[in-house]
Amino acid sequence: MKKLISIAAAGVLLLGLAGCASGGAEPGAGTGDGPKPLDELVVGFAQVGAESGWRTANTKDIQGAFKDAGIELKFSDAQQKQENQIKAIRSYIQQGVDYIAFSPVVETGWDAVLNEAKAAGIPVVLTDRAVDSKDESLYVSFLGSDFIEEGKKAGDWVLSEYADATEPVNIVQLEGTTGAAPAIDRAEGFAETIKDNPNLKVIASQTGDFTRAGGKQVMEAFLKSNPDIDLVYAHNDDMGLGAIEAIEAAGKVPGKDIKIVTVDAVKDGMQALADGKINFIVECSPLLGKQLVDIISTLNDGGTVDKRIVTEETTFTQEQAVTALPDRQY
Ligand code: AHR
Repeated sequence: MKKLISIAAAGVLLLGLAGCASGGAEPGAGTGDGPKPLDELVVGFAQVGAESGWRTANTKDIQGAFKDAGIELKFSDAQQKQENQIKAIRSYIQQGVDYIAFSPVVETGWDAVLNEAKAAGIPVVLTDRAVDSKDESLYVSFLGSDFIEEGKKAGDWVLSEYADATEPVNIVQLEGTTGAAPAIDRAEGFAETIKDNPNLKVIASQTGDFTRAGGKQVMEAFLKSNPDIDLVYAHNDDMGLGAIEAIEAAGKVPGKDIKIVTVDAVKDGMQALADGKINFIVECSPLLGKQLVDIISTLNDGGTVDKRIVTEETTFTQEQAVTALPDRQY
Protein backbone atom coordinates (compact mmCIF):
# COMPACT_ATOMS: atom_id res chain seq x y z
CA MET A 1 0.00 0.00 0.00
CA LYS A 2 1.50 3.29 -1.11
CA LYS A 3 -0.30 5.76 1.09
CA LEU A 4 1.08 4.95 4.49
CA ILE A 5 -0.19 6.25 7.76
CA SER A 6 2.12 8.81 9.27
CA ILE A 7 2.47 7.81 12.87
CA ALA A 8 5.49 9.89 13.70
CA ALA A 9 5.39 13.66 14.04
CA ALA A 10 7.26 15.31 11.18
CA GLY A 11 10.96 14.62 11.37
CA VAL A 12 10.78 12.91 14.73
CA LEU A 13 11.79 9.32 15.08
CA LEU A 14 9.57 7.71 17.66
CA LEU A 15 11.44 4.62 18.66
CA GLY A 16 10.67 2.28 21.48
CA LEU A 17 12.23 -0.79 23.00
CA ALA A 18 9.87 -3.72 22.99
CA GLY A 19 12.07 -6.56 24.13
CA CYS A 20 13.32 -9.20 21.71
CA ALA A 21 10.86 -9.67 18.91
CA SER A 22 10.70 -12.91 16.99
CA GLY A 23 10.45 -13.37 13.19
CA GLY A 24 13.19 -11.14 11.85
CA ALA A 25 11.37 -9.54 8.94
CA GLU A 26 8.13 -8.67 10.74
CA PRO A 27 7.23 -5.00 10.45
CA GLY A 28 8.72 -2.85 13.15
CA ALA A 29 10.63 -5.72 14.69
CA GLY A 30 14.32 -6.47 15.09
CA THR A 31 16.08 -9.68 14.11
CA GLY A 32 15.19 -11.41 17.36
CA ASP A 33 18.74 -12.72 17.78
CA GLY A 34 19.71 -10.19 20.41
CA PRO A 35 21.83 -7.12 19.81
CA LYS A 36 25.01 -7.48 17.79
CA PRO A 37 27.86 -5.07 18.46
CA LEU A 38 27.53 -2.29 15.89
CA ASP A 39 30.93 -3.09 14.40
CA GLU A 40 29.68 -6.59 13.57
CA LEU A 41 26.53 -5.40 11.78
CA VAL A 42 26.43 -5.44 7.98
CA VAL A 43 23.89 -3.38 6.06
CA GLY A 44 23.33 -3.50 2.30
CA PHE A 45 22.17 -0.25 0.70
CA ALA A 46 20.84 -0.22 -2.88
CA GLN A 47 20.91 3.37 -4.10
CA VAL A 48 18.95 4.71 -7.09
CA GLY A 49 21.97 6.20 -8.89
CA ALA A 50 23.74 9.54 -9.11
CA GLU A 51 21.19 11.38 -11.20
CA SER A 52 21.03 14.64 -9.26
CA GLY A 53 22.75 16.89 -6.73
CA TRP A 54 20.16 15.64 -4.23
CA ARG A 55 21.17 12.02 -4.81
CA THR A 56 24.88 12.80 -4.44
CA ALA A 57 24.18 14.53 -1.12
CA ASN A 58 21.99 11.63 0.01
CA THR A 59 24.70 9.05 -0.78
CA LYS A 60 27.36 11.10 1.01
CA ASP A 61 25.14 11.54 4.06
CA ILE A 62 24.25 7.85 4.31
CA GLN A 63 27.84 6.66 3.83
CA GLY A 64 29.06 9.21 6.39
CA ALA A 65 26.45 8.26 9.00
CA PHE A 66 27.28 4.54 8.79
CA LYS A 67 31.00 5.27 8.96
CA ASP A 68 30.46 7.44 12.05
CA ALA A 69 28.38 4.70 13.68
CA GLY A 70 31.03 2.05 12.91
CA ILE A 71 28.52 -0.08 10.95
CA GLU A 72 29.70 -1.76 7.76
CA LEU A 73 27.74 -0.50 4.73
CA LYS A 74 27.73 -2.37 1.45
CA PHE A 75 26.73 0.16 -1.19
CA SER A 76 25.52 -0.25 -4.76
CA ASP A 77 24.52 2.29 -7.42
CA ALA A 78 21.70 1.05 -9.67
CA GLN A 79 22.23 3.72 -12.33
CA GLN A 80 18.48 4.39 -12.25
CA LYS A 81 17.62 0.86 -13.38
CA GLN A 82 15.22 -1.28 -11.38
CA GLU A 83 16.81 -4.52 -12.58
CA ASN A 84 20.17 -3.39 -11.16
CA GLN A 85 18.57 -2.63 -7.81
CA ILE A 86 16.87 -6.02 -7.72
CA LYS A 87 20.21 -7.70 -8.52
CA ALA A 88 21.90 -5.76 -5.72
CA ILE A 89 19.21 -6.72 -3.20
CA ARG A 90 19.48 -10.39 -4.23
CA SER A 91 23.22 -10.22 -3.79
CA TYR A 92 22.80 -8.74 -0.28
CA ILE A 93 20.41 -11.59 0.56
CA GLN A 94 22.97 -14.13 -0.69
CA GLN A 95 25.71 -12.50 1.34
CA GLY A 96 23.51 -12.76 4.44
CA VAL A 97 23.63 -9.10 5.46
CA ASP A 98 21.82 -8.16 8.68
CA TYR A 99 19.63 -5.44 7.14
CA ILE A 100 18.82 -4.12 3.68
CA ALA A 101 17.91 -0.51 2.96
CA PHE A 102 17.00 0.90 -0.41
CA SER A 103 15.45 3.79 -2.24
CA PRO A 104 13.26 2.27 -4.96
CA VAL A 105 13.83 3.66 -8.47
CA VAL A 106 10.14 3.09 -9.28
CA GLU A 107 7.16 2.23 -7.08
CA THR A 108 5.99 -1.09 -8.47
CA GLY A 109 7.52 -4.53 -9.07
CA TRP A 110 9.19 -5.18 -5.73
CA ASP A 111 7.07 -7.93 -4.15
CA ALA A 112 9.11 -10.90 -5.41
CA VAL A 113 12.51 -9.69 -4.21
CA LEU A 114 11.11 -8.32 -0.95
CA ASN A 115 9.48 -11.70 -0.29
CA GLU A 116 12.91 -13.28 -0.80
CA ALA A 117 14.39 -10.93 1.82
CA LYS A 118 11.51 -11.72 4.17
CA ALA A 119 12.01 -15.48 3.68
CA ALA A 120 15.71 -14.99 4.50
CA GLY A 121 14.73 -13.12 7.69
CA ILE A 122 16.43 -9.89 6.58
CA PRO A 123 14.48 -6.77 7.58
CA VAL A 124 14.18 -4.13 4.86
CA VAL A 125 14.00 -0.37 5.42
CA LEU A 126 12.78 1.91 2.63
CA THR A 127 14.49 5.28 2.47
CA ASP A 128 13.46 8.32 0.43
CA ARG A 129 10.95 6.56 -1.87
CA ALA A 130 8.02 4.22 -1.25
CA VAL A 131 7.01 0.97 -2.92
CA ASP A 132 3.46 0.39 -4.10
CA SER A 133 2.77 -3.00 -2.53
CA LYS A 134 -0.34 -4.38 -0.84
CA ASP A 135 1.83 -6.32 1.61
CA GLU A 136 3.17 -3.94 4.23
CA SER A 137 4.98 -6.77 6.01
CA LEU A 138 7.60 -6.67 3.25
CA TYR A 139 9.38 -3.75 4.89
CA VAL A 140 9.91 -2.57 8.43
CA SER A 141 9.74 1.16 7.96
CA PHE A 142 9.64 3.87 5.31
CA LEU A 143 11.77 6.93 6.07
CA GLY A 144 11.41 9.88 3.70
CA SER A 145 9.56 12.94 2.47
CA ASP A 146 5.87 13.42 1.87
CA PHE A 147 6.06 14.01 -1.89
CA ILE A 148 2.37 14.85 -2.28
CA GLU A 149 2.82 17.59 0.30
CA GLU A 150 5.83 18.88 -1.65
CA GLY A 151 3.71 19.11 -4.81
CA LYS A 152 1.02 20.94 -2.84
CA LYS A 153 3.54 23.46 -1.50
CA ALA A 154 4.70 24.18 -5.07
CA GLY A 155 1.06 24.53 -6.15
CA ASP A 156 0.27 26.85 -3.23
CA TRP A 157 3.04 29.23 -4.31
CA VAL A 158 1.76 29.24 -7.89
CA LEU A 159 -1.81 29.83 -6.66
CA SER A 160 -0.79 32.84 -4.65
CA GLU A 161 1.62 34.20 -7.31
CA TYR A 162 -1.18 34.20 -9.89
CA ALA A 163 -4.09 34.96 -7.56
CA ASP A 164 -5.02 38.03 -9.60
CA ALA A 165 -4.54 36.47 -13.04
CA THR A 166 -7.41 37.16 -15.39
CA GLU A 167 -5.89 35.32 -18.38
CA PRO A 168 -4.62 31.75 -18.77
CA VAL A 169 -1.23 31.04 -17.16
CA ASN A 170 0.67 28.50 -19.28
CA ILE A 171 2.56 26.02 -17.12
CA VAL A 172 4.94 23.32 -18.31
CA GLN A 173 5.93 20.47 -16.03
CA LEU A 174 9.27 18.68 -16.01
CA GLU A 175 8.48 15.34 -14.43
CA GLY A 176 10.86 13.10 -12.54
CA THR A 177 11.56 9.49 -13.52
CA THR A 178 8.43 7.83 -14.87
CA GLY A 179 6.93 5.51 -12.27
CA ALA A 180 9.00 6.93 -9.38
CA ALA A 181 7.12 7.93 -6.22
CA PRO A 182 8.34 11.55 -6.24
CA ALA A 183 7.31 12.02 -9.89
CA ILE A 184 3.85 10.56 -9.33
CA ASP A 185 3.19 12.31 -6.02
CA ARG A 186 4.65 15.73 -6.86
CA ALA A 187 2.49 15.85 -10.00
CA GLU A 188 -0.57 14.77 -8.01
CA GLY A 189 -0.11 17.29 -5.17
CA PHE A 190 0.51 20.12 -7.62
CA ALA A 191 -2.48 19.30 -9.85
CA GLU A 192 -4.78 18.97 -6.84
CA THR A 193 -3.78 22.42 -5.60
CA ILE A 194 -3.76 24.49 -8.79
CA LYS A 195 -7.16 23.20 -9.89
CA ASP A 196 -8.63 25.83 -7.54
CA ASN A 197 -7.80 28.47 -10.18
CA PRO A 198 -9.06 27.55 -13.68
CA ASN A 199 -6.62 30.06 -15.24
CA LEU A 200 -3.70 27.85 -14.24
CA LYS A 201 -3.17 25.38 -17.06
CA VAL A 202 -0.51 22.67 -17.44
CA ILE A 203 -0.08 22.82 -21.22
CA ALA A 204 2.76 20.27 -21.47
CA SER A 205 4.28 17.69 -19.14
CA GLN A 206 7.14 15.28 -19.83
CA THR A 207 9.82 13.38 -17.95
CA GLY A 208 13.35 14.78 -17.70
CA ASP A 209 14.36 11.77 -15.55
CA PHE A 210 15.48 14.00 -12.64
CA THR A 211 18.65 15.00 -14.54
CA ARG A 212 19.96 18.40 -15.62
CA ALA A 213 20.53 17.17 -19.20
CA GLY A 214 17.01 15.73 -19.31
CA GLY A 215 15.47 18.98 -18.02
CA LYS A 216 17.37 21.01 -20.61
CA GLN A 217 16.41 18.74 -23.50
CA VAL A 218 12.70 18.62 -22.60
CA MET A 219 12.59 22.38 -22.00
CA GLU A 220 14.17 23.02 -25.42
CA ALA A 221 11.36 21.01 -27.00
CA PHE A 222 8.72 22.78 -24.90
CA LEU A 223 10.06 26.19 -25.96
CA LYS A 224 9.93 25.22 -29.62
CA SER A 225 6.34 24.04 -29.52
CA ASN A 226 4.92 26.57 -27.01
CA PRO A 227 5.82 30.24 -27.58
CA ASP A 228 3.94 31.50 -24.50
CA ILE A 229 5.22 29.59 -21.49
CA ASP A 230 4.68 31.51 -18.23
CA LEU A 231 5.97 29.03 -15.67
CA VAL A 232 8.03 25.85 -15.33
CA TYR A 233 7.26 23.42 -12.52
CA ALA A 234 10.27 21.08 -12.28
CA HIS A 235 10.12 18.04 -9.98
CA ASN A 236 13.71 18.70 -8.92
CA ASP A 237 16.37 21.42 -8.93
CA ASP A 238 18.54 19.71 -11.52
CA MET A 239 15.82 19.68 -14.16
CA GLY A 240 15.05 23.31 -13.25
CA LEU A 241 18.72 24.18 -13.75
CA GLY A 242 18.66 22.44 -17.15
CA ALA A 243 15.53 24.45 -18.00
CA ILE A 244 17.37 27.68 -17.12
CA GLU A 245 20.05 26.83 -19.71
CA ALA A 246 17.39 26.17 -22.36
CA ILE A 247 15.48 29.37 -21.52
CA GLU A 248 18.64 31.50 -21.69
CA ALA A 249 19.66 29.87 -24.97
CA ALA A 250 16.23 30.84 -26.34
CA GLY A 251 16.95 34.49 -25.46
CA LYS A 252 14.54 34.68 -22.52
CA VAL A 253 15.17 35.56 -18.88
CA PRO A 254 14.57 32.74 -16.40
CA GLY A 255 12.78 33.93 -13.27
CA LYS A 256 11.27 36.89 -15.14
CA ASP A 257 10.02 36.02 -18.65
CA ILE A 258 9.43 32.48 -17.48
CA LYS A 259 9.07 31.76 -13.76
CA ILE A 260 10.46 28.56 -12.29
CA VAL A 261 9.41 26.51 -9.26
CA THR A 262 11.45 23.45 -8.27
CA VAL A 263 11.81 20.87 -5.49
CA ASP A 264 14.97 19.91 -3.48
CA ALA A 265 16.88 23.05 -2.38
CA VAL A 266 20.37 21.73 -3.09
CA LYS A 267 23.15 24.34 -3.21
CA ASP A 268 23.08 24.89 -7.00
CA GLY A 269 19.31 25.33 -6.90
CA MET A 270 19.52 27.70 -3.94
CA GLN A 271 22.19 29.73 -5.74
CA ALA A 272 19.93 30.07 -8.79
CA LEU A 273 17.06 31.07 -6.47
CA ALA A 274 19.23 33.68 -4.76
CA ASP A 275 20.30 34.93 -8.23
CA GLY A 276 16.65 35.39 -9.24
CA LYS A 277 16.67 32.65 -11.91
CA ILE A 278 14.39 30.36 -9.91
CA ASN A 279 11.37 31.87 -8.12
CA PHE A 280 10.53 29.35 -5.39
CA ILE A 281 11.93 26.05 -4.09
CA VAL A 282 10.21 23.39 -2.00
CA GLU A 283 12.76 21.62 0.17
CA CYS A 284 13.29 17.85 0.02
CA SER A 285 15.93 16.82 2.52
CA PRO A 286 18.53 14.22 1.47
CA LEU A 287 19.96 14.02 4.99
CA LEU A 288 18.52 10.63 5.91
CA GLY A 289 21.70 8.86 7.06
CA LYS A 290 21.52 9.50 10.80
CA GLN A 291 17.84 8.52 10.99
CA LEU A 292 18.54 5.34 9.03
CA VAL A 293 21.35 4.43 11.42
CA ASP A 294 18.98 5.10 14.37
CA ILE A 295 16.34 2.80 12.87
CA ILE A 296 18.84 -0.01 12.35
CA SER A 297 20.40 0.42 15.81
CA THR A 298 16.95 0.29 17.39
CA LEU A 299 15.98 -2.84 15.46
CA ASN A 300 19.32 -4.39 16.41
CA ASP A 301 18.50 -3.72 20.07
CA GLY A 302 15.18 -5.56 19.63
CA GLY A 303 13.17 -2.35 19.55
CA THR A 304 10.36 -1.25 17.30
CA VAL A 305 10.25 1.63 14.85
CA ASP A 306 7.39 3.53 13.27
CA LYS A 307 6.13 2.21 9.97
CA ARG A 308 6.24 5.70 8.43
CA ILE A 309 8.72 8.41 9.38
CA VAL A 310 8.19 11.70 7.55
CA THR A 311 11.12 14.04 6.94
CA GLU A 312 10.81 17.60 8.19
CA GLU A 313 11.06 20.15 5.36
CA THR A 314 10.47 23.80 4.52
CA THR A 315 10.22 26.10 1.47
CA PHE A 316 12.43 28.97 0.20
CA THR A 317 11.68 32.29 -1.48
CA GLN A 318 14.45 34.22 -3.24
CA GLU A 319 15.06 36.37 -0.14
CA GLN A 320 15.17 33.33 2.13
CA ALA A 321 17.68 31.64 -0.18
CA VAL A 322 20.08 34.57 0.15
CA THR A 323 20.00 34.17 3.94
CA ALA A 324 20.15 30.36 3.99
CA LEU A 325 22.85 29.82 1.33
CA PRO A 326 25.99 30.43 3.43
CA ASP A 327 25.01 27.65 5.89
CA ARG A 328 23.59 25.21 3.37
CA GLN A 329 25.17 21.80 3.99
CA TYR A 330 24.54 20.31 0.56
O1 AHR B 1 13.56 10.80 -4.49
C1 AHR B 1 14.04 12.08 -4.30
C2 AHR B 1 14.27 12.73 -5.62
O2 AHR B 1 15.18 11.97 -6.38
C3 AHR B 1 14.90 14.11 -5.56
O3 AHR B 1 13.98 15.14 -5.52
C4 AHR B 1 15.60 14.15 -6.87
O4 AHR B 1 16.50 15.22 -7.01
C5 AHR B 1 16.20 12.80 -6.90
O5 AHR B 1 16.76 12.42 -8.05
